[in-house]
Amino acid sequence: MKTLSRRQFLRTTALTTVAAGLSARSWSQVAGANSDIRVAVVGFRSQGSSHLASMKGLPGVRLTALCDVDAQLLAEKARQYEGVETHTDIRKLLESKNVDALSIATPNHWHALATIWAVQAGKDVYVEKPVSHNVWEGRQMVAAARKYSKIVQTGTQSRSSQQGIRQAVEWVKAGNLGKINIARGLCYKRRDSIGKTTGPATVPANVDYDLWCGPAPLEQPRRNGKFGPVHYDWHWFWAYGSGDLGNQGIHQMDIARWFLGENQLAPRVLSLGGRLGYTDDAETPNTQIVYQEYAAAPLIFEVRGLPQKTDAKDMDKYKGGSVAVIIECEGGYVLVPNYTGATAHDKDGKEIMKWSGAENHHANFFKAVRSRKPGDLNADILEGHLSSALCHTGNISYRLGALKAPEEIKEAIKNQQGLDDTFGRMAEHLAANGVKLETDKIRLGLPLNFDPKTEQFTGNTAANGMLKRTYRAPFIVPEKV
Ligand SMILES: NC(=O)c1ccc[n+]([C@@H]2O[C@H](COP(=O)([O-])OP(=O)(O)OC[C@H]3O[C@@H](n4cnc5c(N)ncnc54)[C@H](O)[C@@H]3O)[C@@H](O)[C@H]2O)c1
Repeated sequence: MKTLSRRQFLRTTALTTVAAGLSARSWSQVAGANSDIRVAVVGFRSQGSSHLASMKGLPGVRLTALCDVDAQLLAEKARQYEGVETHTDIRKLLESKNVDALSIATPNHWHALATIWAVQAGKDVYVEKPVSHNVWEGRQMVAAARKYSKIVQTGTQSRSSQQGIRQAVEWVKAGNLGKINIARGLCYKRRDSIGKTTGPATVPANVDYDLWCGPAPLEQPRRNGKFGPVHYDWHWFWAYGSGDLGNQGIHQMDIARWFLGENQLAPRVLSLGGRLGYTDDAETPNTQIVYQEYAAAPLIFEVRGLPQKTDAKDMDKYKGGSVAVIIECEGGYVLVPNYTGATAHDKDGKEIMKWSGAENHHANFFKAVRSRKPGDLNADILEGHLSSALCHTGNISYRLGALKAPEEIKEAIKNQQGLDDTFGRMAEHLAANGVKLETDKIRLGLPLNFDPKTEQFTGNTAANGMLKRTYRAPFIVPEKV
């Protein structure tokens, strides 16, 4: 009799375990059929716990391992999921024969290395957005997924809004509102000061900080906000995160690119902004515009972390959206105000169409794990790489810029479609928050040309140097995957 490999078995057997309704404990303990996909969650202080919730009850999926560098979090979680393997070091997890797939929700600077190591070890991967910390390593992830024929899903869950956002994308593509003039992403999301430390903060003993830093330099943290010196606020430091552009913004960046139908990076990018309205430990801008100059229509992204005005609770809105995408077309616009739906509006703003509905994004991942077809994924790693990289190239332009007075900025951007108006609205928003642009000044980024084929900037060595990081041994993303 011909014997089936475990992979073939996963693919060909019918689903036999219906885990719906299981408690957390029984979900991990259940003996499970041989066809179960055995999953490990990596990093779960916050978003990884959402992964656990979204996978629980999916038929034929079983939690077999947990991995976190915070021993206290690991012990607490392991008590809820009795019987699972526990690891602090992902390299030990990857040696396990008890794991088919990883669901990764570590900080961003670990995503690429964890994913590449995992596919090399024969595992499929669901990895959070942004998939990468820099452009180069994102492309390495795509190469590794293809080379080892592994299924790698990006955690941009809007892509699983098949009855909602996808229908809106198709409707716009069919020309129902005419040509797209601007694809606009908005991330108007309150981000408070994280406070100011007077010196390096002490890392709690329960965190293996060498592992936490991984590919990044091993430096004592200089932050100690409400999440402490290690967790969450890393988003606002370049060594680990990419600001709100690559945090919340990547979701809307991805949807905007989806509407444009662009399958490569933009040939020209410019960004401007600043960390304005308060002084704290963080490095990334809380107010930013990114102009991705695609040939057909620009993708303009706006980040605002400050409220409508000083001491206000509400955030600004633009055409009805705060954390949203607005596809401005000749005949009206489409608003995507969330992860699950969209509305179309005529030129007067009247709603003329509405779509809604979303699948479980992890369920879509497991469908592809069974079929072995990356084409079954709603958010294949290539999509994740491209949209994450749009955030990175924007940040590179921003970081290479210089502080300028508003008049100089207006002069520099005057010929770019839609940018002067976007800057004008940003200036009004900052003024309402008491920011004086003449004295506080905004960083005007460098306009950069980019070759989408080679994924390199043209004519700027400094910018090219920022497409990749210096990795700290032994946490090195390989040149040759
Ligand atoms: N898709 C979404 O809607 C969504 C929402 C929130 C966060 N996220 C993404 O999820 C990721 C995590 O965000 P968060 O807010 O939970 O961050 P967090 O800092 O609160 O939690 C990260 C966890 O990972 C652990 N960790 C760090 N390095 C590790 C390693 N090498 N191995 C194992 N565990 C490690 C930490 O100890 C912590 O428990 C980020 O990339 C973020 O962008 C996605």
